[in-house]
Amino acid sequence: MKGIILAGGSGTRLYPTTVAVNKHFLPIYNKPMIYYPLSVLMLIGLRDILLISNPEDIDCCKKCLSDGSGIGIRISYRVQERPEGLAHGLIVAEDFVGDDSVGLILGDNIFFGHGLFDILVEAKMDIDRSGGAYVFGYYVHDPERYGIIEVDESGRVLSLTEKPSHPNSNWAGVGLYFYDNDCIGIAKNLLPSPRGEIEITSLNQEYLKAGKLKTKLLGRGFAWFDAGTHDSFLEAGEFVAAIEKRTGLMLGCIEEIAYRKGWIGREQLLRLAIPLEKTDYGRYLKALAEE
Ligand code: G1P
Repeated sequence: MKGIILAGGSGTRLYPTTVAVNKHFLPIYNKPMIYYPLSVLMLIGLRDILLISNPEDIDCCKKCLSDGSGIGIRISYRVQERPEGLAHGLIVAEDFVGDDSVGLILGDNIFFGHGLFDILVEAKMDIDRSGGAYVFGYYVHDPERYGIIEVDESGRVLSLTEKPSHPNSNWAGVGLYFYDNDCIGIAKNLLPSPRGEIEITSLNQEYLKAGKLKTKLLGRGFAWFDAGTHDSFLEAGEFVAAIEKRTGLMLGCIEEIAYRKGWIGREQLLRLAIPLEKTDYGRYLKALAEE
């Protein structure tokens, strides 16, 4: 499975903050927003990752993450010329994906929870074994803001609706999707929605129609934020700060993940810490290397 992070869009829900900067590089507490979705892909073992962004922001992405070799992964970049929708990102990624399956994550999504990665790894293995697609649901009080998943008592998906005004479920589809290789061909045949975008929900509906959509619901022990509005941005930062201060352990620390996975060694971790030495982040990496 290959990883894709979508870091484009115009960020209008964070205006005026994002008039001049791409939201994915704003800080969620002590590190760029993009670190959190990247860390999810790394934690499930994906090391070949594509980042897609707007023409004007792609250099910023490269400056932030470079080619990934410093943390033992490979990061490639592609431009999405116009905001044509999340599922359109898969078409942009076609040559990168090749014959592989895909783990697609939105660049403003932040996940936390004990056991979360076991659930995700199980779903990933299921896709690689038997194909299809996975969506993940999270119970929210404001479902009209999201793509909604209606499930029956056995957890089977009944319907998917993008931002309904009268939601029939409180299960929001989080911005993380696993697909078999068919996703690109399916995305190419989708028509744009009334707002002119090739919607991820339309793609998922095709998998549902074909009887190939699976879901896992993330229950009360998990936290999920989309940091795309002023409130959710602030709440995500406060959440990360609270957990990190309480435990002394970092969330979304890509260098730590690479080190703990054995993708980089102690020397490299120390090298990565040097330019950050004036910060708690750098001191954390140094302490980790000296453990
Ligand atoms: C997108 C998807 C939506 C999903 C959400 C999760 O919405 O279209 O289905 O629930 O991400 O963050 P957006 O935030 O791009 O409007």
